[in-house]
Amino acid sequence: MATPLKVLGISGSLRRGSYNTAALHAAEALAPEGMTIEQALIADIPFYNADVQAQGFPQPVLALGEKIRGSDAVLIASPEYNYSIPGVLKNAIDWISRLPDQPFIGKPIGMIGASQSVLGAARAQYHLRQCFVFLDALPVNKPEVFIALAQNKFDETGKLTDEATAGFIRKHLEALAAWTRRLQG
Ligand code: FNR
Repeated sequence: MATPLKVLGISGSLRRGSYNTAALHAAEALAPEGMTIEQALIADIPFYNADVQAQGFPQPVLALGEKIRGSDAVLIASPEYNYSIPGVLKNAIDWISRLPDQPFIGKPIGMIGASQSVLGAARAQYHLRQCFVFLDALPVNKPEVFIALAQNKFDETGKLTDEATAGFIRKHLEALAAWTRRLQG
């Protein structure tokens, strides 16, 4: 039996009815055997400010850093805001990037995204990949998951109702599991 994998889910959207948070919840249920996904919260992270950092890292940043360190992989579900990733997600990444013994180094990253347009947050995902170059994290390349027209793929309770999308997420999680195990040797 394969070693269990702990995955930390991070949603790039703070809104209650978020399709991206809903996609992470769907992922929890679609995870392959041995993989568990727990969602982290980034809503309490203040705006990055080097003066604040100089006084000590805020507790929510330290907590997120510890959660990343304690996970075998991270799964990010991000919307696209103005062709890029939302400020709240970038802000969280910026804080984490300043922690000593930077937690993203060598960390396997899964990436999915939902938007209400036809491109399914694709442009944002390429910006997210770009951030992870400098951070030395290791995103899964394929299969990519772009959930286009998300408003047609989840019901009003946030349940994923589109079978094809469920299949893409499942395949991405299988790839993340294989990638993580490969990197762990
Ligand atoms: C958007 N949206 C959006 N969609 C898209 O496909 N490309 C984009 O560039 C943008 N830009 C954008 C900017 C801002 C400020 C907002 C609030 C929204 C629409 C977006 O896809 C939609 O609001 C999603 O539902 C957001 O994801 P969550 O919150 O449902 O996870």
